[in-house]
Amino acid sequence: MDVPTAAAVAFVALLLLYPWPLLGSVRAQFSAGGCTFDDGPGVCDYHQDLYDDFEWVHVSAQEPHYLPPEMPQGSYMVVDSSNHDPGKKARLQLPTMGENDTHGIDFSYLLYSQKGLNPGTLNILVRVNKQPLANPIWNVTGFGGNDWLRAELAVSTFWPNEYRVIFEAEVSGWRSGYIAIDDIQVLSYPCDKSPHFLRLGDVEVNAGQNATFQCIATGRDAVHNKLWLQRRNGEDIPVAQTKNINHRRFAASFRLQEVTKTDQDLYRCVTQSERGSGVSNFAQLIVREPPRPIAPPQLLGVGPTYLLIQLNANSIIGDGPIILKEVEYRMTSGSWTETHAVNAPTYKLWHLDPDTEYEIRILLTRPGEGGTGLPGPPLITRTKCAEPMRTPKTLKIAEIQARRIAVDWESLGYNITRCHTFNVTICYHYFRGHNESRADCLDMDPKAPQHVVNHLPPYTNVSLKMILTNPEGKKDSEETIIQTDEDVPGTCASQIPPRNIL
Ligand SMILES: *[C@@H]1O[C@H](CO)[C@@H](O)[C@H](O)[C@H]1NC(C)=O
Ligand SMILES: *[C@@H]1O[C@H](CO)[C@@H](O)[C@H](O)[C@H]1NC(C)=O
Ligand SMILES: *[C@@H]1O[C@H](CO)[C@@H](O)[C@H](O)[C@H]1NC(C)=O
Ligand SMILES: *[C@@H]1O[C@H](CO)[C@@H](O)[C@H](O)[C@H]1NC(C)=O
Ligand SMILES: *[C@@H]1O[C@H](CO)[C@@H](O)[C@H](O)[C@H]1NC(C)=O
Ligand SMILES: *[C@@H]1O[C@H](CO)[C@@H](O)[C@H](O)[C@H]1NC(C)=O
Ligand SMILES: *[C@@H]1O[C@H](CO)[C@@H](O)[C@H](O)[C@H]1NC(C)=O
Repeated sequence: MDVPTAAAVAFVALLLLYPWPLLGSVRAQFSAGGCTFDDGPGVCDYHQDLYDDFEWVHVSAQEPHYLPPEMPQGSYMVVDSSNHDPGKKARLQLPTMGENDTHGIDFSYLLYSQKGLNPGTLNILVRVNKQPLANPIWNVTGFGGNDWLRAELAVSTFWPNEYRVIFEAEVSGWRSGYIAIDDIQVLSYPCDKSPHFLRLGDVEVNAGQNATFQCIATGRDAVHNKLWLQRRNGEDIPVAQTKNINHRRFAASFRLQEVTKTDQDLYRCVTQSERGSGVSNFAQLIVREPPRPIAPPQLLGVGPTYLLIQLNANSIIGDGPIILKEVEYRMTSGSWTETHAVNAPTYKLWHLDPDTEYEIRILLTRPGEGGTGLPGPPLITRTKCAEPMRTPKTLKIAEIQARRIAVDWESLGYNITRCHTFNVTICYHYFRGHNESRADCLDMDPKAPQHVVNHLPPYTNVSLKMILTNPEGKKDSEETIIQTDEDVPGTCASQIPPRNIL
């Protein structure tokens, strides 16, 4: 705190420190919250800020003071810029206001310097509860002459918060001149000249959405004033759109793009004209995080065409309440995804393909647009094999020779085997003459293009069938009778290429 050098000023400063509330009975003669400073600020319950750089000084009409003669007569509060370093601030706080109301605050001020220099800036701040100070809602700077000027504020308050208007004088680089205030009137209704705001409501959105504050102001000519949304941390958001509701009322919208948790804060509407300022209550921007399960769903049961899962979505990241739970699943090898709403703790996924890997995730939704969170971690699991559907009704014969028959594979697709692991067996038997017969089964290589049965006798009826086996069951084809070719002279078994010999 700068210590004023003039003894007279020091004396006045001492008076200010005197416990004025003892004179509480005097207070009744002032309008609630107003002050003419005839007996100092204390009787009006005005207080110097304990955390600023120096103090406002009270000058009294009854006491001698050292101010230059062209300064106004009477009692008022003043800051002498020549006594303090540039940028230093003195703040005087009005009593708190707390009802659901708009208060009109009317006051006189002057910024004067004998040399015509800028004495500094007069800022008006509105503090809510014990929160840090935001930017000023009104300010004026520069030489303004030695006559009182009048300005008014409209401060909308919202119970149960406490609002405190603060007059702040900031010393300019010139270190010259005076900033003074006087005759503060606080009315429990808005003054006529400056626009005032209706209550600004809280806005709740889901993260990622655009948030809109709508400020409704009342007052003549309000639409021509400077208008902005003030964030508690000092950031100013310009108006996006204004709309006249009628000749005395208009609405201004402020848009915050795709908000995140870091935008969650208090915001208020401010309007400023030469005549004064209007400020709304602080409203909260509440940014909700769409919910997402912490854990993957749990597998309760598995079959060839179904998976039974427990959603396991009671532990979430983000905000509730949860109004919708969905199961999202897809084949890990596929590109499509299906989503089903669920309203029980368990869910059965039906009509799945056997022996196929699926990825299952849970989606949670909270109210409001964009309320669906990211999918939770996946459960990756496989359905069981199903019993083979059937084998091809008739075998497809690729080639018949005197001593070999080749059977085609082609038709054994997954939709018949219903499992990716399976065995194929070819069984054959034949009679030749009266006493020669043979029956055998051969395990086939499912990767080979054909099954070949070798070492058959020529010109013989051979009965063949195919058996398809997978871990869940076994299916036989019908028998097919094929007659091998007659031996062609010059051809014998040894001349058959060895490739397919079993
Ligand atoms: C202020 O308004 C709120 C909501 O509109 C209400 O709940 C509260 O009781 C009011 N308080 C006073 C002191 O008027
Ligand atoms: C008044 O305050 C605003 C911040 O709200 C600031 O941008 C502006 O520079 C100030 N004007 C003066 C004259 O200090
Ligand atoms: C937010 O607003 C911008 C521009 O107005 C628009 O492009 C964007 O799609 C909006 N975002 C959402 C989530 O609505
Ligand atoms: C098996 O799938 C193929 C195509 O992949 C199709 O042509 C055939 O008709 C299907 N067979 C059965 C029995 O569904
Ligand atoms: C089959 O019977 C014939 C006579 O009928 C005989 O010569 C031949 O050795 C028999 N073959 C076998 C394999 O028993
Ligand atoms: C094979 O069976 C068919 C029909 O039963 C018959 O006509 C044919 O003569 C038989 N062939 C031989 C070589 O026995
Ligand atoms: C297929 O054959 C192999 C070897 O003979 C055997 O170990 C396996 O169990 C068989 N698989 C099925 C599904 O029958």
